[in-house]
Amino acid sequence: MKISFLGHATLLVETAAHSILIDPFITGNEKAAGKVNIEDLNPDFILLTHAHQDHILDVEPIAKQSGATIVSNYEIAMHYQAKGFEVHPMNHGGSWEFPFGKVKYTQAIHTSSFPDGTYGGQPGGFILTADNKRVYIAGDTALTLDMKLIPEWGKLNLAVLPIGDNFTMGVSDAVIASDLIKCNKVLGYHYDTFGYIEIDHQRAKAKFDAAGKKLHLLEIGASLEV
Ligand code: NI
Ligand code: MN
Repeated sequence: MKISFLGHATLLVETAAHSILIDPFITGNEKAAGKVNIEDLNPDFILLTHAHQDHILDVEPIAKQSGATIVSNYEIAMHYQAKGFEVHPMNHGGSWEFPFGKVKYTQAIHTSSFPDGTYGGQPGGFILTADNKRVYIAGDTALTLDMKLIPEWGKLNLAVLPIGDNFTMGVSDAVIASDLIKCNKVLGYHYDTFGYIEIDHQRAKAKFDAAGKKLHLLEIGASLEV
């Protein structure tokens, strides 16, 4: 499984046979300009953790050009179904076997309104199991004791955790989260995009190192193999 960081909280997961785009926010991200073009994205599925603009901005053009099925909570799925898109609604605690693998929709402590203020259901994250690998994509969330349940559902090969602070966990809480989920290999996301969430990369990596863990911070467009 190959995971590419497309800036902010946008990930492209490529399994042996499918590609899955998560939380596309590209055209609104100055830092992704010239590095990622939405015209180049042709995912089979688009997974959305919640309805905030910095997670859904580019869903519609990408879903239109690719015909991707949009997977999210019930309210977000219905929002896109009403606009004519293919959707698969889920809710917290539920799992589904998709053609590429299994997805479980997990708890997140956050909010989830659409940019116009309408209700976007409750925010979540995903456990994605494909190609015999398991990745936890936390979504925008605080540190929460619910994370203790994550390893009950199988050993993780990688966790993608927000580290930008202010709107989500910061680095110190992400280190604790890594303990709760029993996964020492972490890809950080949701940092540096705008002023509220700028972090010191070296200090962040050092905090993980000191705990015997590894924090990966990828350049926009770069990827890692799980
Ligand atoms: Ni958010
Ligand atoms: Mn966000």
